[in-house]
Amino acid sequence: MRQSRIMTFFFFILSIVSVSAYKPVILVHGAFGSVDNEFGNTFEKWIPAEHAGTVVRPIRLFEKACSLLPMWVQIERIKREVGSFMAKHPAGVHFLCYSQGGLLCRGILSSMNHTVHTFVSLSSPQAGQYGIPTSWSKNLDFLKVNAYKVLYTKPLQKMLSIANYWNDPHHQPLYQNFSEFLSPLDGSSKTPNISEFKENFLKLKRLVLIGGPDDEIITPWQSSQFGFYDNKENIVEMKKQKFFLEDSFGLRTLYKRGGVHTFTFPGIQHQQWHINRTVFERAILPFLI
Ligand SMILES: *[C@@H]1O[C@H](CO)[C@@H](O)[C@H](O)[C@H]1NC(C)=O
Ligand SMILES: *[C@@H]1O[C@H](CO)[C@@H](O)[C@H](O)[C@H]1NC(C)=O
Ligand SMILES: *[C@@H]1O[C@H](CO)[C@@H](O)[C@H](O)[C@H]1NC(C)=O
Ligand SMILES: *[C@@H]1O[C@H](CO)[C@@H](O)[C@H](O)[C@H]1NC(C)=O
Repeated sequence: MRQSRIMTFFFFILSIVSVSAYKPVILVHGAFGSVDNEFGNTFEKWIPAEHAGTVVRPIRLFEKACSLLPMWVQIERIKREVGSFMAKHPAGVHFLCYSQGGLLCRGILSSMNHTVHTFVSLSSPQAGQYGIPTSWSKNLDFLKVNAYKVLYTKPLQKMLSIANYWNDPHHQPLYQNFSEFLSPLDGSSKTPNISEFKENFLKLKRLVLIGGPDDEIITPWQSSQFGFYDNKENIVEMKKQKFFLEDSFGLRTLYKRGGVHTFTFPGIQHQQWHINRTVFERAILPFLI
């Protein structure tokens, strides 16, 4: 008799513990990346070690070269996977998304009736990319300046993820006409879905934007915090961007709610964001609750 009461009490405590448990964390890798390379020895281990019992769910889709498929193609497939995962975790989930993965996650947040509480965007070019990594080519300026001619065409938009968020500050009308992903997502071009995008995006409670000046891949690095070049290549910060001022997709509303947290770390190259323990402890872990 007494023993069964103790057992009942024990289960009661257990159920409280499981109700107050940490929300599951969905991990999305970057371009050319894979879950095992990017998160296997870091977030997949670090998160449960610090927040015991956290379910960590890496998305093993579009790894390596497949990460170059168009953004919406990837998003539609990933949505099916996260949709069934969310259904099993009705208390909500978090997104922790790295590099290009952060744009995939944003596309999901805007186009899905989701239950994401916190979205950590880890060095993702949220305002677009205008730069070519030095390791890829010596003829950088020539490539950068001319890329729009190829990338702002229908075939390339249907073929290559990077074309979807290439944002050439000197060819904005072409960007608005051709970009099939970032420009409509920002509401920079006419987007029939924009009010739906905004409603979905604003289900988010918290957005954590992490980036830094020594990234070397994300160009300008401020894009990781929604800053971008104007047509003279001066940086315009997030709060002065048109999409912020017009609140086209909900960023300003989220900001006014106190839901946007921005972190800048110096001395971190692009390939180090997900392995740096300081970044994890200061800017990621405290939000995964
Ligand atoms: C936008 O809306 C159209 C028409 O309602 C729909 O077919 C399309 O799938 C939507 N796109 C996204 C990304 O939600
Ligand atoms: C979104 O999902 C919630 C919870 O499942 C549901 O109550 C709501 O009606 C859905 N909204 C839309 C627009 O489908
Ligand atoms: C963009 O599209 C509009 C409408 O189709 C067209 O009038 C305009 O010339 C286009 N601009 C560029 C730079 O292609
Ligand atoms: C991690 O980031 C911190 C903060 O920017 C930096 O001081 C430190 O050197 C980095 N650690 C490694 C191992 O790169």
